[in-house]
Amino acid sequence: MKDGSQSEIEVEPGANVMRTAVDAGLPGIFAECGGACMCATCHVYVDQDSVQAFPPVGEVEEEMLECTVAERLPVSRLSCQLVVPEGVATVVVRVPDAQT
Ligand code: FES
Repeated sequence: MKDGSQSEIEVEPGANVMRTAVDAGLPGIFAECGGACMCATCHVYVDQDSVQAFPPVGEVEEEMLECTVAERLPVSRLSCQLVVPEGVATVVVRVPDAQT
């Protein structure tokens, strides 16, 4: 979290990371476009150990990652494009300091 705190949420395989975070009321993910990959306000930094759990950045996500308010890092992803894969027990993401 922006304040350095951490939250842990249980998710089922197939869960969308952005939707899960928003439904759980976690601060820092605005998701203004509702998951349509059109706003970049769901930007997260995926922990290095979790990066391999997800498919590579898609073409549209790549374009939107150029629009993030916080610095884009190699581990930047749009959480609305991340689905927890089958067999993955833990996914760790960090919310940037700013989304808007
Ligand atoms: S919710 Fe808008 S790009 Fe992810």
